[in-house]
Amino acid sequence: MCGIVGIVSNSEVAPILVKSIARMEYRGYDSCGIATLNGAGIEMRKDVGSVEEVALREGLGRAHGRIGIAHTRWATHGGVSRENAHPHLSCDGNFAVVHNGIISNHQTLKTELLNRGHRFLSETDTEVFAHLLEEMYTPGVSVEKVFIRALRRLEGTFAIAMISTYDPKRIFCAREKSPLILGIASETYFTCSDVNAFLPYTRRAMVLEDGEYAVLSPEGYSVRGITDGELRTRQILEIDWNMGAAEKGTHPHYMEKEICEQPEVIYRAMEVPQREIAALARLMLQARRNVLVGIGTTYYVALFGQYILATLAREFVPALSSDEARILGVIDPDTLLVAISQSGETFDTLEAIHHAKAAGAQTAAIVNVPGSTMTREAGLVIHQNSGPEVCVISTKAAMAQMVLLIRLATEIAYLKQGCFTGDIRILKELAYLPKLVEVTLRTQQRHIRDLALRYHNKRNWFFLGRGTYAPIAFESALKMKEVTYLHAEGMTAGFLKHGTLSLIDKDMPSVFFVPPKEEKDLYDLTMNSVEEVRAREGIVIAFNFDQTGAHFDGEVRLPKASPLIAPLLQLLAGQLLAYETAVVLGRNVDRPRSLAKSVTVA
Ligand code: F6R
Repeated sequence: MCGIVGIVSNSEVAPILVKSIARMEYRGYDSCGIATLNGAGIEMRKDVGSVEEVALREGLGRAHGRIGIAHTRWATHGGVSRENAHPHLSCDGNFAVVHNGIISNHQTLKTELLNRGHRFLSETDTEVFAHLLEEMYTPGVSVEKVFIRALRRLEGTFAIAMISTYDPKRIFCAREKSPLILGIASETYFTCSDVNAFLPYTRRAMVLEDGEYAVLSPEGYSVRGITDGELRTRQILEIDWNMGAAEKGTHPHYMEKEICEQPEVIYRAMEVPQREIAALARLMLQARRNVLVGIGTTYYVALFGQYILATLAREFVPALSSDEARILGVIDPDTLLVAISQSGETFDTLEAIHHAKAAGAQTAAIVNVPGSTMTREAGLVIHQNSGPEVCVISTKAAMAQMVLLIRLATEIAYLKQGCFTGDIRILKELAYLPKLVEVTLRTQQRHIRDLALRYHNKRNWFFLGRGTYAPIAFESALKMKEVTYLHAEGMTAGFLKHGTLSLIDKDMPSVFFVPPKEEKDLYDLTMNSVEEVRAREGIVIAFNFDQTGAHFDGEVRLPKASPLIAPLLQLLAGQLLAYETAVVLGRNVDRPRSLAKSVTVA
């Protein structure tokens, strides 16, 4: 879980390399570094810390050269130290490499290389590659040949970029099961883990496939197969992402910025062509069995999908956590697996897709990042077009995915029943959602900040809801946990009396996701649970829509909304509560500890 970049240009690259890794810090941010070819040799600067810190301390942007590579790390092999930060050099300093992934046979290679006299400076798996290149190089053999031979010795997963003094005008990069994308600007070429890295410079991209390598120079690039050496040609993608979307603007954190972008993100989800939604709906109706998969936030999105498909379309489509899908999902050729992912790179979700394909099942995916692995591996893809989500904590992407799932359920209901009166109403309600999100942001954020100030010192929280509100409660608990480090448990409100009420006391807040009164059954049941908590002197905070007459210790009154979109306004309230509490606690909001955005390892 790291971000790699390589740039070759006709002008100095270090300042762009630094900006590019900063834009990929969501992939890891415990250490970073760059290496350039400055005419005299390889110039390397690296250390522990965020890109901003290291850039300042080590002068990353002052490295000279028109060609270079850079890396931002989230430690897997070897602790967080300067030595383990990338790039890594060969003993003679003629090769520098950066890597994302895991070289599974690194131990065998290391023993071999140690026996040949190589000295290792780090505990990383990556360093073996630098030494392997040195070991294989002999004068007269092209660096490209050496690169391919060394690649063929690697097992595991990699996105790798390399520079060498022996071929000082070219970058060599390769991909095997870790993302790698080329960015094509005029006389400047990028190789990066994610399009985010080069979006300010170019929107033209080319995705490398597994088993391919590329060579970049200021004059152009070529892509070939690692095993067959055959030239590969591929269409250039035009990335249709709003440039400003990856800048923080006036917001103190990306998390707040992305929460506030949700009206726009909902519009974009509404603009996804109906024919794409209808194609997925038809596929689902043709399949004998459907499953939704996601993990972390996207598992809760999938769970929301399960509820919405059951209530709107009368279809039972179980949601599975991607990491368990292989075990739980009875997947056969009559199954359609629908994956949900912001990054399109999450290991567990990709594994679920691979498992489904191996079983002969069909696959589909709802994905945010264009050109990501999932967009190429899933049979049918819906691009949600939410723009770059930079904060490690997912917010706006989940909102858009839920909107798309409502559209999907509506379409399935329509296909099953012919033109039923509900569909127009539902789409009208959705069209009204951005306005309500704006109103909530305007009227409730300050109030939620007050709640955060009052309750941020509570160590344990419950988040409770029923029906479609339950997955929203679960997701809100996850938001709270990951950004505040407080313990928060999401639970169906009905579950409470089956043991967990014992935890309620006057120090424990329970956040209730109260449905609008018109959902009378759910509303009454939720209010019963409120009373159960109050009877045990628990602190009750309600996200609700109506005057209830009940006493709450804290209340977030959301604008009147229909039951269909009410959960999405509560999703927003949950995001804001987590955000404001984290700010009060002084947490590193955009980069909370032990989290990386794209979890690309098992
Ligand atoms: C939560 C969060 C993670 C991701 C999960 C799946 O805020 O960011 O739980 O939701 O790792 O990631 P994607 O959606 O990229 O597959």
